[in-house]
Amino acid sequence: MNILFLLSLFLFPIFYLLIIRRRRLLLKRLPPGSLGIPVIGQSLGFLWAMRANTAEKWFAERAKRYGPISKMSLFGKPTVFIHGQAANKLVFSSDGSNMSNHQTESMKRILGDRSLVELSGEEHMRVRKALASFLKADSLKIYVGKMDEEIRLHLLMHWQGKQKVTVLPLMKTLTFNIICSLLFGVERGARRDSLIQYFQHIMAGVWSFPVNLPFTRFNRSLKASAEIQRILKQLISEKRIELENGASSHQDLITCLLSIRGEDDQELMSEDEIVQNVMLIMIGGYDTSSVLITFIIQILANDPNIHAAVLTEQEEIKKSKPSGELLKWEDLAKMKYTWRVAMEILRTIPPTFGGFRKALEDIEFEGYIIPKGWQIFWVTSMTHLDDTIFPEPSKFDPARFESPESIPPYCYIPFGGGARICPGYEFAKMETLATIHYLVTQFTWQLCCKDNGYQRHPLPEPNQGLPIEIIPKEVV
Ligand code: HEM
Ligand SMILES: *[C@@H]1O[C@H](CO)[C@@H](O)[C@H](O)[C@H]1NC(C)=O
Ligand SMILES: *[C@@H]1O[C@H](CO)[C@@H](O)[C@H](O)[C@H]1NC(C)=O
Repeated sequence: MNILFLLSLFLFPIFYLLIIRRRRLLLKRLPPGSLGIPVIGQSLGFLWAMRANTAEKWFAERAKRYGPISKMSLFGKPTVFIHGQAANKLVFSSDGSNMSNHQTESMKRILGDRSLVELSGEEHMRVRKALASFLKADSLKIYVGKMDEEIRLHLLMHWQGKQKVTVLPLMKTLTFNIICSLLFGVERGARRDSLIQYFQHIMAGVWSFPVNLPFTRFNRSLKASAEIQRILKQLISEKRIELENGASSHQDLITCLLSIRGEDDQELMSEDEIVQNVMLIMIGGYDTSSVLITFIIQILANDPNIHAAVLTEQEEIKKSKPSGELLKWEDLAKMKYTWRVAMEILRTIPPTFGGFRKALEDIEFEGYIIPKGWQIFWVTSMTHLDDTIFPEPSKFDPARFESPESIPPYCYIPFGGGARICPGYEFAKMETLATIHYLVTQFTWQLCCKDNGYQRHPLPEPNQGLPIEIIPKEVV
């Protein structure tokens, strides 16, 4: 007893000193910048800049003032904003042991905790592998025709016979229908219609504050999420029966996920995992691609040279095919110039502004410490608009991507990078190219208002949703 007491008397100051030392060390080496007013911090300034479409400037100014790493407080959490090639490398080369993914609280409560964005390490790899088995180029090849049919039907229903259309909402309708067809295997009809309604409530809630009171967006979003989960579970049991009766496992994403077996012949993903990841793919794939296609339509109206080059490429592909034949994978592979235009849109107006991670341990960067538990914020625009990486960054120039190997690694990151790089890349490419093919070969258009502004909500949306006047081409 006495010895223990003496020992603790002796040890306590040592521990105390060690803790103080660590704190001092941390304080001394915390990144520059201020955490601002508690809770609010810089959130209002940031949100305002997103709305006013000056977020790129807001971040560039911070970077000029503080250098490659600085601290701030965003959405009530201490946050370190890091940027540049080395910063992106730090974020994207982490295997998840020192950094975890970090989503908004709303997203987590709406989706659940088994979706890809919540998982890390080996579980993340297992679920990603399952999703990738459907989303990789090799598997997608067989679905080009199905996607083509959705696009043609869409143009027939919503574009033909019209003089004026508003692009963004229509592109959302289109990408949603493509997702329903290819990913869920849900045909047009009542079920698809109720899915889209619930889904719009979900999307409104993902970026809301997680206040679960009646009539809040978040509350409505949770209810919609429960409804969608019910529909998806029903769908899963129907597809299980179809599979048992010998149906192909390549009908859609859900049947594909149901058929993947592990070593012991058990299903590799639980039902909850399938439901939550299918919902995640809906969220990840819907707004992003529709925004990309919308801004391509805008640049095609604004720049006659780019329009002419895209049209030439697409007409050539059209001419090489028997009239009425569906697009094939090989046709998409020929759309090289059109994809470079898309890549330049993704550089200048990336749908995803940036993203968050959370430090799982103290991480050292540029001589400063990112303390354990803090948010890490990476931002696409900081390298995309850097004139040492992309000369004359404000110039729209698809030729930059003629030799992609000239772009240094970790600098062009519209789809992120590393272990969490967007698994929907090929899917997005396929629907973008096929849609542009039919649009430029069937219509000409001009903008109704000469206003090229957009706002971030947080995805970029052109003012008024981009209304255009359209003229159908003579059918030859
Ligand atoms: C132009 C279209 C798209 C863009 C710009 C885009 C962008 C991104 C980015 C930047 C990330 C990485 C986020 C991070 O590292 O924190 C990501 C992840 C993800 N995306 Fe996409 N995306 C697009 C289309 C799609 C599509 C079509 C799908 C589904 C079919 C999809 C599904 C996902 C999923 C599931 C993740 C999470 C991956 C993980 O955490 O491992 N995305 N996307
Ligand atoms: C984080 O983990 C990755 C992968 O294990 C490693 O390469 C990297 O050096 C680590 N970073 C830090 C700052 O500890
Ligand atoms: C929505 O709010 C009401 C009232 O607070 C609550 O009873 C209900 O459970 C909430 N809905 C969900 C799905 O959480």
